Amino acid sequence: MSVHKEFKRITTHALQAMKNRGERISMLTAYDYSMAKILDAGGVDVLLVGDSASNVMAGHETTLPITLDQMIYHAASVVRAVERALVVVDLPFGHYQGSSHKALDSTIRIMKEAGAHAVKMEGGAEIRESVERVLSAGVPVMGHLGLTPQSIYKFGTYTVRAKKEVEAEKLIEDALLLQEIGCFAIVLEKIPATLGKRVSETLKIPTIGIGGGQHTDGQVLVTHDMLGITKDFHPRFLRRYAELFDVIKEAVEQYSEDVKNRNFPNDKEQY
Ligand code: KIV
Repeated sequence: MSVHKEFKRITTHALQAMKNRGERISMLTAYDYSMAKILDAGGVDVLLVGDSASNVMAGHETTLPITLDQMIYHAASVVRAVERALVVVDLPFGHYQGSSHKALDSTIRIMKEAGAHAVKMEGGAEIRESVERVLSAGVPVMGHLGLTPQSIYKFGTYTVRAKKEVEAEKLIEDALLLQEIGCFAIVLEKIPATLGKRVSETLKIPTIGIGGGQHTDGQVLVTHDMLGITKDFHPRFLRRYAELFDVIKEAVEQYSEDVKNRNFPNDKEQY
């Protein structure tokens, strides 16, 4: 399988160039060194150190509990692995909704301690000040609209967002605002495909969809979902490219059996 490797290192400018010439952008989540090495070798353009680490790595029900220190630990591990991909890190819940100064302080820690390349924040007009302050420090910001998991308790469900025209209009307004103040890209999560298309055609900056249909400028999935490491999550937008839960489980069963049957180690596997 061939992978487009024109860019030695992906920058926000490279992503814009991809949109300008109609080339799709690939993005996946990463939380640790070993997996990030594989994903980067596979040619993915952007690695998102998502606060979905709260669910996937720590087993929490929502993304809310993860701390800034934990995000920095995950991000630093990913950055150490990466040679090509742009590394974007989620600002965790509580670090930008209340105070733009806290947003900047938290971002500076992420950039200095993890060596990240950009941050992501969920929301539109309501977080304008935080986005502007972070941008003013020279840090690229990715927006995130539609289903915003940090607001799960406000909405109560993970169903498709902005199905009504009035909500769609608000989302387009927010997307235009984020573009105008300087975001380099926007994630569009779980919205109707027609709206994903409208936003992507309206904006000059790239859109990255997750359940946003086939017309967004790029796609993102949670790596553990697309590799089938998680088993009990089946949204319509998810395509599983492997069934690693079963592959790993079978390997572990075989290992365990070999140990118990004294088949491992054999005489060549010892000193
Ligand atoms: O945290 C995350 O993994 C995300 C993606 C779902 C876009 O924000």
